[in-house]
Amino acid sequence: MKYRPLGRTGWDVSEVSFGAWAIGGSWGQQSDEDSLAALRKALDLGVNFIDTADVYGDGRSERLVAQVRRERREPIYVATKAGRRLSPHTADGYNFENLSKFVERSLKNLATECLDLVQLHCPPTDVYYRPEVFGALDRVTEQGKIRFYGVSVERVEEALKAVEFPNVQSVQIIFNMFRMRPAELFFPEAKRRKVGILARVPLASGLLSGKLSQQSQFAVDDHRNFNRHGEAFDVGETFSGVDYETGLAAVEALRLLVPQGATLAQLALRWILMFDAVSCVIPGARNTKQAEENARAAELPGLSEGQMGKVREIYEGEIRPLVHQRW
Ligand SMILES: NC(=O)c1ccc[n+]([C@@H]2O[C@H](COP(=O)([O-])OP(=O)(O)OC[C@H]3O[C@@H](n4cnc5c(N)ncnc54)[C@H](OP(=O)(O)O)[C@@H]3O)[C@@H](O)[C@H]2O)c1
Repeated sequence: MKYRPLGRTGWDVSEVSFGAWAIGGSWGQQSDEDSLAALRKALDLGVNFIDTADVYGDGRSERLVAQVRRERREPIYVATKAGRRLSPHTADGYNFENLSKFVERSLKNLATECLDLVQLHCPPTDVYYRPEVFGALDRVTEQGKIRFYGVSVERVEEALKAVEFPNVQSVQIIFNMFRMRPAELFFPEAKRRKVGILARVPLASGLLSGKLSQQSQFAVDDHRNFNRHGEAFDVGETFSGVDYETGLAAVEALRLLVPQGATLAQLALRWILMFDAVSCVIPGARNTKQAEENARAAELPGLSEGQMGKVREIYEGEIRPLVHQRW
């Protein structure tokens, strides 16, 4: 495993880290046994950063993460999120009282006295125009309940606005072979301000592993079934917002670029790591096989200029018209 600095936090985080959404819920059946095994395998391979949220399985993901953290001696940084428990989910709800309540709950679930990193969980755009929200996060930080805070955003413009607040340490954004716009405007700005970047949905919800097909079935409680058209939350979170059939066709073209001994999932993760503004990539893993395959992507040699150009070409031709100006 290799490590990169996360913004100004002073932490060095594993280039390939762990996304803990699927081990909480919304991805069909998932046993805690498999989830714990996946987490342990990732940590054994040098992963030291886990991204979770208070709403993943209504706390189930946070509690599983707490369980494995208790077993280990080495430092493991845990990023959680706050805001999505609000109902209705409005900008007004992002205030000191509510944020404090969410933090208290995550402190319990994560069995700790101070949260490492709390991210606003894709709040309404208006939140980024309310300095008082960031003031509230400063107050919670001063109380010693959180060490650092950051944001998880849907759109590039939200990311650009968020980093104007000086204590925002990290931005989590969708960035993958099917979502390239963040690299244009936002990455240089984040680097300039020394803000960490967490690249989420790196496998486009599994599409970029190359294992999915027209015949793939998804359970009714898997967002790849129930959010295919953005019925429950932003459609960009499911298959990266790419129409399934178009995605499958592009995957066939990408498959030709996979080096011997590697997998498409590994190539997809290694491609993201070619961007030095990225602090880490946070693929979800549901079992030890996926956790190992993903962690070992850090060992792959970098992509050649030719490979980078080809990936870009596939994006420009098939994907860009569908996604580029939407997020
Ligand atoms: N709003 C937000 O802030 C937000 C939204 C989305 C995600 N996130 C974070 O970002 C993380 C990553 O995004 P994601 O989990 O949505 O999508 P992802 O990482 O692109 O895809 C993860 C899924 O792909 C499959 N997979 C993983 N590794 C694989 C491998 N090596 N080979 C084959 N299949 C593999 C697994 O599902 P199957 O085995 O079922 O196919 C896994 O659940 C999340 O876990 C979460 O921490 C945050």
